[in-house]
Amino acid sequence: MQRTFGFLGCGRMGGALLDGWLDAGAIAAGAVTVADPHTGAALADARGVKAGDREAAAKADVVVLAVKPHYLDAALSGLSFSADQLVISVMAGVPRATIAEKVAPARVVRTMPNLGARIGVGVALVLGQGEPGDVQAVADLFGAVGHAEVVADEALFHAGTALVGSGPAYLFVAMQAMADGAVAGGMPREAARRLAAATVRAAGALAGEPGAHPEALKDAVASPGGTTIAALGILERSGFRGALFDAVRAAAERSRELAR
Ligand SMILES: NC(=O)c1ccc[n+]([C@@H]2O[C@H](COP(=O)([O-])OP(=O)(O)OC[C@H]3O[C@@H](n4cnc5c(N)ncnc54)[C@H](OP(=O)(O)O)[C@@H]3O)[C@@H](O)[C@H]2O)c1
Repeated sequence: MQRTFGFLGCGRMGGALLDGWLDAGAIAAGAVTVADPHTGAALADARGVKAGDREAAAKADVVVLAVKPHYLDAALSGLSFSADQLVISVMAGVPRATIAEKVAPARVVRTMPNLGARIGVGVALVLGQGEPGDVQAVADLFGAVGHAEVVADEALFHAGTALVGSGPAYLFVAMQAMADGAVAGGMPREAARRLAAATVRAAGALAGEPGAHPEALKDAVASPGGTTIAALGILERSGFRGALFDAVRAAAERSRELAR
């Protein structure tokens, strides 16, 4: 039997998952109810899902919680859930136990996805706590729109958020700077942007191959006396690695602060 899905909140992140899951055939539009005062009607028009109120969305077999954390209580207010239901949280910084208490006796799986889900290249952490069958089902669902990694320890969500949630921004900055460098060398702006994006995509695909290691891949590009090793010398002297290391640590620390 087809499972029904309800979205409580469907903005940037919920919408990215909805688009990705529909496009991947992981869920069927007719089985989805979206409760979002802002996007519900437009999504019903664009994607053929039902726009409903919170009560309607909260009756689904699988309820996706995708509001901003400070709207959580308002989004759940007056709703009740049953043990037959699975609640998937995509909310940053809200512990699984907090959500489980609010939606009891529904089962809960906590995740940390990113916006790549919209085009099938998402990256998601899935907390491996709860019913093993639920964790697997959620990992499969997020795996349908990219890469899903099950992590056992919830404390790792801070470092994971710094990598998966914030990580695309570090690379956007790097891509823009690389494109600027090419523009300085005479490359037309739009071509430089396209080439930077394609280069990052290719590097990610190579680094993601089974058994691949970034250090070995870097060595393979950097031939003796060549252009790449000249550039790498600049990156080493300017603290590129240290900056990225510190950036990830700072984002993880900020995630811890927000959780407190
Ligand atoms: N964006 C990301 O890259 C990202 C990545 C990972 C996780 N997340 C998590 O995803 C969650 C949503 O973030 P977002 O960026 O998608 O935010 P967003 O674009 O603001 O989407 C949230 C949506 O929920 C709606 N909403 C607010 N209160 C509601 C209620 N009581 N009932 C139903 N809908 C309600 C909002 O409508 P209004 O605009 O009218 O308030 C909005 O359309 C957050 O908890 C965030 O931590 C986001």
